[in-house]
Amino acid sequence: MGNIIEINDLCVNYRTQNQEKIYALRNLKLIIKKGETVAIVGESGCGKSTLAISLINLLPENAEVSGSIKIDGKEILDKNNKELQNVRGEKIGMIFQEPGASLNPIFSIKEQIEETIKFHKKISDKKILKDMSINLLREVGIKDAERIYESFPHQLSGGLQQRVMIAIALSLSPEILIADEPTTSLDVTVQAQIIELLNKLKKQRNLTTILITHDLHLALELSKRIIVIYAGEVVEDGYIKSEKDAEHPYTKALFEIIPDVIKKRKKFKIIKGELPDMKKIYERCNFSDRCNFVHEKCREISLELVRADKNYVRCLFPLKGRKK
Ligand SMILES: Nc1ncnc2c1ncn2[C@@H]1O[C@H](COP(=O)(O)OP(=O)(O)OP(=O)(O)O)[C@@H](O)[C@H]1O
Ligand SMILES: [Mg+2]
Repeated sequence: MGNIIEINDLCVNYRTQNQEKIYALRNLKLIIKKGETVAIVGESGCGKSTLAISLINLLPENAEVSGSIKIDGKEILDKNNKELQNVRGEKIGMIFQEPGASLNPIFSIKEQIEETIKFHKKISDKKILKDMSINLLREVGIKDAERIYESFPHQLSGGLQQRVMIAIALSLSPEILIADEPTTSLDVTVQAQIIELLNKLKKQRNLTTILITHDLHLALELSKRIIVIYAGEVVEDGYIKSEKDAEHPYTKALFEIIPDVIKKRKKFKIIKGELPDMKKIYERCNFSDRCNFVHEKCREISLELVRADKNYVRCLFPLKGRKK
């Protein structure tokens, strides 16, 4: 199968008010195949959302971007807003963390779904618009779709709001669906339902699906391929099912802090230390200060993403594979 997303040497810096630079993404390379499902995992601040919004070229004004992002072979970083219209929405549908904030409180669900379809698909027949909207609401698992269609966002629970957001994202039949922390504001049962829905939709619609989350447990529910990012870099990329598949010490650490809902392991652990200063570029492993397996050499040179055992890792001393 062909590649639908090819990212090469992607660097994104944000300029702060006092003209400092935050290096949010650093020479990021990533290839995603058509129809593939991937989860992008990492702690808060490591660049996950920056990557998501780069994919629709919607970075804020204070961002500087270089490198290349090809969607279906076409470069999107040099396109203007008009040219990007059919990438945003029609090629790539996106859902975000706070469905309540993405929906406009003064318009009904009907108006919000239909506006999107009218604008992009140039359909104005009321009956067709209504049928399309109701079908979409049913497809995302809303049982009383006719009632929800007439409702306003504040009348819906967070879970229902997120389903509506997914319906809006699907209304333009995108090939790629990006979900950036789609369940963070929802309670655990609803989280599971949304992940189940994404699982169903990706199969039914043969979507290329990208789930972005800080929660490795959630990532494993949806995706076999796990891409771990740390301080703006991919540190591990491979097929990971459990802790024993982790080849980078950071991925192993992420497994150790999973609050295991099934085993009711309530104690919430964190990885010791914090992200390195994102305003600096270090000639060393970015994770070395927090790594349980650190070696002197790790603080002397910067690293490439290379194959260790089965996965690609950015580590001099991976947990499996390359000789020590
Ligand atoms: N508009 C902006 N202006 C300046 N700095 C920004 C901006 N957006 C993000 N950053 C910084 O860029 C880095 C990466 O942020 P990003 O939002 O991509 O991380 P994230 O992994 O999505 O985090 P979270 O899990 O909290 O959503 C952080 O240091 C953040 O503070
Ligand atoms: Mg984010």
